[in-house]
Amino acid sequence: GQILRTYDPGYMNTCCCVSRISYIDGDKGILRYRGYPIEQIAERATFEETAFLLLHGELPTDSQLKEFNRSLMKHCHVHEDVKKFISSFRHDAHPMAMFAATMAVNGSLYPSSNPSIAGQDVYKDKAVRNEQILRILGQAPVIGALIHRHRSGQTINGPDESLGYTENFFNMMDKKGEVAYRPNPKLVHALDVLFILHQEHELNCSTAATRHLASSGVDVYTAIAGAIGALYGPRHGGANEAVVRMLETIGSKEEVPKFIESVKKGEKKLMGFGHRVYKNYDPRAKLIRRLADEVFDVVGREPLVEVAMELERVALSDEYFVKRKLYPNVDFYSGLIYKALGFPTDFFPILFVIPRITGWLSHWNEFLDDPDNKIVRPFQVYKGSGLRNFPSGDLKY
Ligand code: SDX
Repeated sequence: GQILRTYDPGYMNTCCCVSRISYIDGDKGILRYRGYPIEQIAERATFEETAFLLLHGELPTDSQLKEFNRSLMKHCHVHEDVKKFISSFRHDAHPMAMFAATMAVNGSLYPSSNPSIAGQDVYKDKAVRNEQILRILGQAPVIGALIHRHRSGQTINGPDESLGYTENFFNMMDKKGEVAYRPNPKLVHALDVLFILHQEHELNCSTAATRHLASSGVDVYTAIAGAIGALYGPRHGGANEAVVRMLETIGSKEEVPKFIESVKKGEKKLMGFGHRVYKNYDPRAKLIRRLADEVFDVVGREPLVEVAMELERVALSDEYFVKRKLYPNVDFYSGLIYKALGFPTDFFPILFVIPRITGWLSHWNEFLDDPDNKIVRPFQVYKGSGLRNFPSGDLKY
């Protein structure tokens, strides 16, 4: 077999990662942000408080939170060139492709904080890093709203600096006359909790992508654009969109047994189920399931939820899923809430991007704070051909 060479710790640091941001116990279904259980954060904190906690490691004092909120909203204004860029897309372009491209373009507007232009040491200055963090976090909801409104052929309302982070997003998305978009306080709260539950999740695919890109020394906007690309995949952040499409295809509770059989034959995946780490119920899924009822009380019950509940009931009692430890994950019910709130199905992954930018920026910051940080280069086990000689003779042009 392949003899695995032993490497110095520095090398190991380039293919695994030590972090202090979040902790997951997949067998017990535990998730903590900086040591605080996700259940307590979801119940007691706001999105902004949680963002401060993830970025800085401690909960903010009242004055720190006030200043953080003010700075975030101060940074929410988007460059006119970015608005022109977004309006250059076709109306039916996928929002995730638009968001990733817009984030990368955004980076080209700030050369003084771009290591490829201003030099590698520019990120050694914490104030420069903090400015990028506030700008990206502050602008994310506005870029999302601009993308949504461009696709619906409308302008956005705002942003309104006097509103909170999530309420401002809702307000910008608001389409006069559409009940679900009115920033109803109960709906704003529900979306705030959903945003909190999506902020951070250890070294998932898109966060790992952030750390990979950060290690090359590229500017943070391009690193975040890369993370958005990773999250776009239906096996990752695109799953909330895929779940609703799956439920629409199944159509009714009566069709669930036939669908489950097709999954067991390997013809289809049960989207919203399974996880790389959780081999138990994703703690976020439990909280989102409860949140769904709060939202349905305001905007009316989403009919597909009956199909989802039947799918969950059948799968959790079926040997195929139990044996493989497949449980509902964060995406199983979140898409149903977004649908009930009136968001377009292909916009759901954007509702994952906006909060997850907090986690990506926290890991970016943590990577740059590590004095031993090196370019990431995962370990490879070579299983190809051994040494062999190339046939001699004339070159074949
Ligand atoms: C997210 O990593 C994170 O933290 C991600 C995330 C975050 O917050 O960042 O939590 C967000 O991405 C959640 C996951 C969203 N994706 C989906 O819901 C898509 C459906 N899920 C699957 O694609 C799958 O479960 C993955 C991709 C999530 C995990 O894939 P793995 O690690 O390959 O799954 P596994 O090793 O546990 O699979 C064991 C068995 C296999 O079958 P056998 O080869 O043993 O016969 O279970 C099967 C898999 O084929 N299986 C499924 C299944 N997921 C795994 N079978 C049917 N339906 C599924 N959803």
